[in-house]
Amino acid sequence: MIIEGCSNANTSPDAAWKQRLRRNLLRWFDKHARPMPWRDRPTPYHVWVSEVMLQQTQVATVVPYFERFIARFPDAASLAAADEGEVLRLWEGLGYYRRARQLHQAARHIVERHDGKFPDDREAIHALPGVGRYTAGAILSIAFGRRAPILEANTKRVLGRLLAYRGAPESTAGQQLLWRFAEDVLPRNNVGAFNQALMELGSEVCAPRNPKCSSCPVASLCPTRSAGLQDQIPPPKRKPAYESVTEAAVIIRRRGRLYLRQRGDDERWAGLWDFPRFSVPSGNGRPSHAALVHGVSETTGLTVNATQYITTLKHGVTRFRITLHCYEAKHVAGRVRDARWLRPSELENYPLSVTGRKISRFAL
Ligand code: ADE
Repeated sequence: MIIEGCSNANTSPDAAWKQRLRRNLLRWFDKHARPMPWRDRPTPYHVWVSEVMLQQTQVATVVPYFERFIARFPDAASLAAADEGEVLRLWEGLGYYRRARQLHQAARHIVERHDGKFPDDREAIHALPGVGRYTAGAILSIAFGRRAPILEANTKRVLGRLLAYRGAPESTAGQQLLWRFAEDVLPRNNVGAFNQALMELGSEVCAPRNPKCSSCPVASLCPTRSAGLQDQIPPPKRKPAYESVTEAAVIIRRRGRLYLRQRGDDERWAGLWDFPRFSVPSGNGRPSHAALVHGVSETTGLTVNATQYITTLKHGVTRFRITLHCYEAKHVAGRVRDARWLRPSELENYPLSVTGRKISRFAL
């Protein structure tokens, strides 16, 4: 089947097809671009921060975080000068905290090696901690107007459909093909707008299920639509197998202060502070007093008594569905290692996980 120059995944669309794609998409974006705070003034720093926040996170969630972050850290120098704890505190709730730590490290790198000025060459941008091919392409195209491709979840789907590519976009062959295509379709000018238009189209029109082809500016160019294969391209992914886990968290009190430790580099939520938490046997009931005393001792070296139940929280981390039973206990003996006794009022300044923050409200 040959549709307007684009036959299948192995044939590169012709020049006229690409011209129409660029023109239709840019016109559409001009009218339909959603206002986003980083679009007002797309400096390299703004684009970089927004794109890192947007990895794995929806635009609506990112907007208030971006505004708070930029108000506190208007440039790389102010970010570099901050404590990592403060950076994580502003990131609290966005998840994937490694992004924040790498952003902070990269800001220090920009100050140390580039005099605080955001680098404008490809190699230097790629060398920033946490910046992969996608983020580099976004910064180069949106902030510097350079002809650099991008490929992320939305564009993978849009480009895959425009090629009627039936393979898995995540496969090595799929990645190679789609990156090549993402580069091939770029216009000479307005590259940043074009890349954003692809993402916007993927998010607002070319949805994974029930795409709104009737309002798509490139529907007439799309072989997936002509063949009615929207449900099959991209091929549906298998849902991850969720695993149920039961954990306990304990607020340990000692003379009005609370025990918190900073999570290590090799742990989930590295850099965040947390109440002791540990696995307990799954089952219908809550853990016994003995299991809690044992768990606290194993994770902190402290002895506690008088455990009191507070609440149970449910949350998800990657493929785990966690039931978290929360308790209070009194410190009896033992010294802290790599941890702090904090006043409840101090918790406001410490970055916690979402459940850590919920638990902290019971400690005030
Ligand atoms: N998703 C990731 N980056 C984006 C951007 N710049 N515009 C719209 N959606 C995005």
